[in-house]
Amino acid sequence: MALILDGNGRWAKKRGLPRQMGHKKGCETVEQIVEDAARLGIRYLTVYGFSTENWKRPEEEVGALMQLFRYYTKRLLKIAVESNVRVRMIGERSRFAPDIVEGINTLEEKTKDNTGLTFVIAVNYGGRDEITRAVKRVMRDCREGKISESDMTEQVFASYLDTAGIPDPDLLIRTSGELRLSNYLLWQLAYSEIYVTDCLWPDFNKEELLEAIRQYNKRERRFGGVGKMETK
Ligand code: IPE
Ligand code: IPE
Ligand code: MG
Repeated sequence: MALILDGNGRWAKKRGLPRQMGHKKGCETVEQIVEDAARLGIRYLTVYGFSTENWKRPEEEVGALMQLFRYYTKRLLKIAVESNVRVRMIGERSRFAPDIVEGINTLEEKTKDNTGLTFVIAVNYGGRDEITRAVKRVMRDCREGKISESDMTEQVFASYLDTAGIPDPDLLIRTSGELRLSNYLLWQLAYSEIYVTDCLWPDFNKEELLEAIRQYNKRERRFGGVGKMETK
């Protein structure tokens, strides 16, 4: 399952609060959803936390997001250990402050043997950036003779992406009603079912999650083939 958590700003605005308060409440919702998803037996949950384009936001908001990020990586470690959750980060992390990078590394290292939910956080993540970085790695391996043109397949290419080893999402949920991908998992979402809810992210809860799953279960996935009705 993949999630675009959107609407923190709108949630705050509705209440006459600064956008940062929406992000803080949004982080609490993330914590809760990680626990719910782990209990529901969801195997993989990938959440879009900060995009490569989000650096365009006012310095004050970016700063507040970094502060939250710092704080929640620590809290998340506790939750992950308690709930048997394995945490992984995707995106280009070198742009973050060294202590944040260290926090991410610790989180991944200390949870790597957990066998429950794999919780993937996309930070400084952009689908195009991910693909571009993958192409660079392919070119380097090619130059070093580790791979040749005839070895390249979709599977091999996928193994160069940040999401190597993580299955493509069956379902993408976006909160706050926007009908776009915003540069999220461009390769991986090729055949995912899309569910958009008007619910703002800080208001998202287990009931909303279950409703998304119910809707998903009603869908007929075709993967380019013909529908079940037509084959009869
Ligand atoms: C999503 O909420 C969180 C991030 C992108 C970091 P927004 O901050 O985009 O909230 P809206 O879209 O302005 O309501
Ligand atoms: C997508 O939300 C990025 C994250 C949720 C981290 P945005 O709020 O940045 O997307 P746009 O700008 O509305 O497309
Ligand atoms: Mg938004």
